[in-house]
Amino acid sequence: WLGGVDAVEGVVVAEDEAFWSVVESGEGGALAEVLGLDAGVVEGVLPALVDWRRSRVERSRAEGMRYRVSWSVVDGGAGVLSGRWLVVASEGVAGERVEACVGALVRGGAEPVVVVLDDGELDRWELAGRLTEEDGFGGGFAGVLSLVGLDGRTGVVGVPVGVAGSLALVQALGDAEIGVPLWCVTSGAVSTGRADGVVVPEQAMVWGLGRVAALEFPQRWGGLVDLPAVWDERVGGRLAGVLGGVEDQVAVRASGTFARRLARVAAGAGRPGEFASGGAVLVTGGTGALGAAVARRLAVRGVPELVLTSRRGLGAPGAAELVAELAGLGARATVVACDVADREALAGLLGEHPVTGVVHAAGVVDTVPLVGVGLEEFAEVLRAKTLGARYLDELVPDAEMFVLFSSIAGVWGSGGQAAYAAANAYLDGLAEARRARGLVATSVAWGPWADAGMLV
Ligand SMILES: NC(=O)c1ccc[n+]([C@@H]2O[C@H](COP(=O)([O-])OP(=O)(O)OC[C@H]3O[C@@H](n4cnc5c(N)ncnc54)[C@H](OP(=O)(O)O)[C@@H]3O)[C@@H](O)[C@H]2O)c1
Repeated sequence: WLGGVDAVEGVVVAEDEAFWSVVESGEGGALAEVLGLDAGVVEGVLPALVDWRRSRVERSRAEGMRYRVSWSVVDGGAGVLSGRWLVVASEGVAGERVEACVGALVRGGAEPVVVVLDDGELDRWELAGRLTEEDGFGGGFAGVLSLVGLDGRTGVVGVPVGVAGSLALVQALGDAEIGVPLWCVTSGAVSTGRADGVVVPEQAMVWGLGRVAALEFPQRWGGLVDLPAVWDERVGGRLAGVLGGVEDQVAVRASGTFARRLARVAAGAGRPGEFASGGAVLVTGGTGALGAAVARRLAVRGVPELVLTSRRGLGAPGAAELVAELAGLGARATVVACDVADREALAGLLGEHPVTGVVHAAGVVDTVPLVGVGLEEFAEVLRAKTLGARYLDELVPDAEMFVLFSSIAGVWGSGGQAAYAAANAYLDGLAEARRARGLVATSVAWGPWADAGMLV
């Protein structure tokens, strides 16, 4: 009988579809016939029906494309390890952390070989030499556990030491031909839910970088493990379990081991509210493709004043035309040339143009295989996104709308885009951190847009 029920429902759905396709055709006569009404009666409501249908179809299509990160409790694994494990840390990593991880490896059955790098050794080529030496003392590591990502200091060219060091390590392991799985440890890179700790965006960057390393070097990739701030023996046992297990993006907490998943967002859930303040909105990258699209949408939604920034400002192609178009839609737009990674310039801009909403769409992308990317070009891709977002967070903390344009590259990685992935993971992490502070923030990790933008 289940089949019978399905069949009846199928007929209803098919009839509904037939009705709505008549509406979509916009032919009043045909609709009047279906409804058994006078054509004159139908003509009056038809445009409203067509609009209603179009907006519902668009919304449900858009909603069908939405995913979110979720966390599943998983079996922590037996935690049985063997062989020599290379444990790499840097000067900025707390000694207790190193000891705790070494203890966990020993209890798991592994034989750790610890290397604590001084700042000079965090250079790729220095590091490759050091690793070759270590490997020479018997060689044959079973795995590499990197604690370098935990180093929270700011390093050269503004890249956090933990991120720059992790990049150097991934490259140096390749140079030293150490082809065993690399596991990268962080703390606070992710949050498994409301009861979990606050996300540290710089730690999230290590995950963005790691996801790209996983795609580019699957044969020598282990995974990403996020550890809690407070350590106990159970955590150590779970860490060993993860290193010997099958999950590759894991948060170890006092309450259990959590594996990262991507889940569809249920229709209607998390639907954004309207921005109703009536204040001005800053769109960074506002003369770019997506920034301009957002500006148009905001104008249509009644935002009276828009401040659009990019480094070229009015010199960007189409900027003047965009201002005129936005005026036609009812919004007064001002285009200001400003590098959002320059805090002073951004503060000056916001002093002159106070805003109540922010859409941070400024960004650049570059595609360079991990094996060849240099730290300066890495930093160059980070700047607009990470520094821009950080300064906006600091300068407009109480924004009523705070939207960050992120990318799927940060969510599941993208070959050749390590810096871009790290930058976008930072944005996602910053949105989580702001929310934990009780502030508004939404990070939208877009897939590739059609027709226009940096990927066309
Ligand atoms: N297009 C896509 O398919 C896609 C997919 C996922 C995510 N996204 C994200 O969406 C955002 C917009 O992308 P898009 O496709 O519109 O790219 P786009 O057309 O290249 O626009 C990027 C804008 O950012 C500006 N910009 C770059 N660095 C800046 C800086 N330091 N200070 C101020 N402005 C700066 C650029 O202008 P100037 O060069 O004049 O500064 C440009 O206006 C980016 O963050 C991107 O990562 C896009």
